[in-house]
Amino acid sequence: MAETQFQKAIFTASVSYNKAIGKHFFNLRLELNGSAAEIFRKALPGQFTELDLSRLALPAEEQIPDELSECSQRQILLRRPFSFTNIEYSGSKVILEILYCVLGPATLRMKTLKPSDKINLIGPLGNGFKISSDKKLAILVAGGMGAPPLQHLAKELKDKCPGTETIVFAGAKNISQLPYYDIKLEKISQEPAFVLDEFAKHNVKALISTDDGSAGFKGFVTEMLKNWLKSKKPDSGKTIIYACGPEAMMSSAAAISSEFNIPCQVSLERLMACGTGLCQGCAVRYINKQTKETGYKLCCKDGPVFWADEVVW
Ligand SMILES: Cc1cc2nc3c(=O)[nH]c(=O)nc-3n(C[C@H](O)[C@H](O)[C@H](O)COP(=O)(O)OP(=O)(O)OC[C@H]3O[C@@H](n4cnc5c(N)ncnc54)[C@H](O)[C@@H]3O)c2cc1C
Ligand code: FES
Repeated sequence: MAETQFQKAIFTASVSYNKAIGKHFFNLRLELNGSAAEIFRKALPGQFTELDLSRLALPAEEQIPDELSECSQRQILLRRPFSFTNIEYSGSKVILEILYCVLGPATLRMKTLKPSDKINLIGPLGNGFKISSDKKLAILVAGGMGAPPLQHLAKELKDKCPGTETIVFAGAKNISQLPYYDIKLEKISQEPAFVLDEFAKHNVKALISTDDGSAGFKGFVTEMLKNWLKSKKPDSGKTIIYACGPEAMMSSAAAISSEFNIPCQVSLERLMACGTGLCQGCAVRYINKQTKETGYKLCCKDGPVFWADEVVW
């Protein structure tokens, strides 16, 4: 994906909200004003920020899950990357919404953030999803914590491409790993339906899968996608796939997109240190489609969104 240079800088945000969604997830809202708001209001779905969480204290001992008690003591030396589920602006103020999963020392500390706390961030970083209004159908494939940038993308597609129908295929290991507020289990069927509020509010119907069958289709989200493409046969020239989730899921989405000749963009994850292209620590192996030469790109600077057929999986 061609790199675009976006304006970015270090800012201080103020926490306006930080509440749990189910057992594993939290919804964090950060307020920005002044020049930070000016810059972030133009951020695209798929772009991200790096948060400085180094000075946050741990939550009370009883709030630390047993499986995280050992790693919780680790110092937070590096900033942590997060994409956005939504960016709202009114007047001179911007609200960044982040959905995060508690799985290590930094995200454990994030739980303690409360309204009015200040947090230092860099961004917006990287390159976001490319959208085009000549598509009739956009298919979002969200594996577990891949959901955040795709929620943001659903909103962008509704606003900028009103002629494009958007459907989300949302999967996870089991029902408790689906990072959504309220899953309308009674409405889940083999046809896309308004079962996830986060997407329904953007007029996007969803199909759900879980590896263990605790909600929706039993199996991988990519199996569900393949079955659906086989049966519905959408016009490949008018369809596009956007995927975000575990690497194996995105690799499978890339293979399916190639089989059905549908273009596909993926938002990749790498461990990131600087987030700005300096440390060279987030390499992605890529292939030049014309020359077939391979090389490396940086996930933070050239991505995190790439065309799936330009990544060496
Ligand atoms: C571009 C980008 C956007 C992201 N957006 C979100 C988001 O919207 N919401 C969210 O919850 N998380 C997101 N992440 C992942 C998030 O940055 C990590 O979960 C977080 O840094 C974990 O910090 P920790 O100290 O709590 O856990 P750590 O101890 O740092 O990590 C816990 C476990 O997760 C693995 N892990 C951590 N970060 C990554 C990574 N980048 N790639 C692969 N494995 C990793 C570690 O290897 C370890 O096993 C994003 C990552 C990237 C690169
Ligand atoms: S995180 Fe440093 S170059 Fe990408």
